[in-house]
Amino acid sequence: MKNVKIHDKEFELFITYEKIRSIVEEMSEKMNNDFKDKNPLFLCILNGSFMFAAEIFKRISLLDAEISFIKLASYSGTHTTGSVKQLIGLNEDLTGRTVIVLEDIVDSGITIVNTIEQIKAKNPADIKIATLLLKPDALQVKVQLDYIGLEIPNDFIVGYGLDYDGRGRNLIDIYKVTEKK
Ligand code: IMP
Ligand code: MG
Repeated sequence: MKNVKIHDKEFELFITYEKIRSIVEEMSEKMNNDFKDKNPLFLCILNGSFMFAAEIFKRISLLDAEISFIKLASYSGTHTTGSVKQLIGLNEDLTGRTVIVLEDIVDSGITIVNTIEQIKAKNPADIKIATLLLKPDALQVKVQLDYIGLEIPNDFIVGYGLDYDGRGRNLIDIYKVTEKK
């Protein structure tokens, strides 16, 4: 499929599954090496990262590896300081663990920075961040990313777990919006 329409927007083929697979293969191979002597806990940030996380994790050959799934909940508080974010679904004890966060895309970077802060509060030995995609031009905060699959321009994309208003997550390839901003 070269073009798709989701809700009101047209999208065109941008990153093929073949390309994604080669990125995932390379990244997971590196991780197998980097975490050889550890008992790593992979943390998949829902919803968007479920496909990426599944494909990374099934290529992790370390028998001591574990995976868990978290979501970040935002509550608009009564304070003027803004929203409070909280991890939901994290039941594991992270004390002394090597944690590898699996994210689909880092855009402004605010989500990942919040997630890192929440994880740090649970006293892991080490936190590594892996993202399939990064939009360098959209970054608003300083964040250390340990594994970056691919840097992309600041265009809206869907597919391979990423959505436009809930739709498009089931697309095998990644598509970008065709309209100019
Ligand atoms: P950030 O907090 O601005 O870095 O945004 C990160 C989250 O926004 C990602 O985990 C995605 O769920 C979502 N996101 C960012 N860019 C896109 C996009 O182009 N398409 C779909 N979702 C996106
Ligand atoms: Mg996400």
